[in-house]
Amino acid sequence: KTLDVAVLGIFVADLAFRAPRLPVMGETILGRGFAMGPGGKGSNQVIAAARAGGRAAIVTRVGADAFGDIARRAWAADGVDTGAVITDAEAPTGAAFIFVSTETGNNAIIVESGAAAKLSPADVAAAEATIAAAKVFVTQFEQPLETAMAGLATARRHGAVTVLNPAPALPVDDAIYALCDYVTPNETEAATLTGIAVETVADAERAATEIVRRGARNALITLGEKGALLHGADGTVHVPALKVEKVVDTTGAGDAFNAGFCVAIAEGRTPAEAVRFGCALAGLSVQKPGTAPSMPTRAEIERALAG
Ligand code: RIB
Ligand code: NA
Repeated sequence: KTLDVAVLGIFVADLAFRAPRLPVMGETILGRGFAMGPGGKGSNQVIAAARAGGRAAIVTRVGADAFGDIARRAWAADGVDTGAVITDAEAPTGAAFIFVSTETGNNAIIVESGAAAKLSPADVAAAEATIAAAKVFVTQFEQPLETAMAGLATARRHGAVTVLNPAPALPVDDAIYALCDYVTPNETEAATLTGIAVETVADAERAATEIVRRGARNALITLGEKGALLHGADGTVHVPALKVEKVVDTTGAGDAFNAGFCVAIAEGRTPAEAVRFGCALAGLSVQKPGTAPSMPTRAEIERALAG
C-alpha cells in the first residue's frame, strides 16, 4: 500500500470568534479576537495525519472559489495527496461559525458543508484507487451518511482498517457498525449513538460495549481531559490524556486524535499505543488556537510522548 491514511470528509473555512460567552438571541456582544483558517473535520484529519508523518490523501469536493483556494494551499503546504479532490463548478466551499470561549477554550460550532454536502457514493467510486491504496480509512458525518457508508464499504473491500468518527453525531442504523473496525465518538456523540449519558470512564465503557454489541469491532471514546477509552474483542484500555498546562482552544482536538490514531495504526503500532499517540496529538493541538493550523509536527509528538 502506498498510502497510510485515506480520509473521506469535508473542508470548510473556519471563521473562529473568541468571546467570553455566546450572545443570546437578539443580542450583540463584542468579540475578543477573530481568525479565519482551514477547517472541516476531514481536512483537519488529513492535515494532522500528514504532519504526524503519514502519507495521507483526502477524498472530497470543494468549490471553485476563494475558500477552495485556502483548502488547496493548506493541503499543498503539508504534502496531502489531492488526487481524489473534485472541484465543483457550481456549489460554494462551505464555512463554519466557531465560537471559542475565552474563559474555558471550549467551543460551539455551526458548520455548513457547502460543495461537500454533494459528496456522493459516485464520488467515492471515482476515488476507489485512492481508498484502495491506503492502510487505514477514516470518515466522519459532515458529508451525507450514504457517502460515508460507501467509503467504509470500499475501504473494507480493499482490506483497509476502517475508522468511523461519528461527528457530528447522527442517529444511525446498526448496518454501518458492521463496516467499522473502530468507531470513535466523543462523550456527547457516544450518548447520541447509544442513549447512554457519558460523563465518567465507567459510562464510556458502557457506551462502548453498546457500540460493539451493535456490530463495530471496537469502540474508541474520547473523553477530553480524561483521555480515551478503547473497548473491543481484545479487552478494554483507558489511556489518560496528555498533561496540558493551558487549554487555548479545544476545536479540532478530536480531529487531531483520530489522525494520530490512524497514522499509528498504519505504522503497525498496537491499538493501545495508537490511542496514546492520538492523545498526544489532541493534547498538543488544544494548546494552540485554530484547528488545522494547531496540528503538531512529528517531532513535537515524539517529544510529548517522551515526556
Ligand atoms: O472538528 C472541528 C471542525 O468541525 C472545525 O474545523 C469545523 O470546521 C467543524 O467542521
Ligand atoms: Na487548537
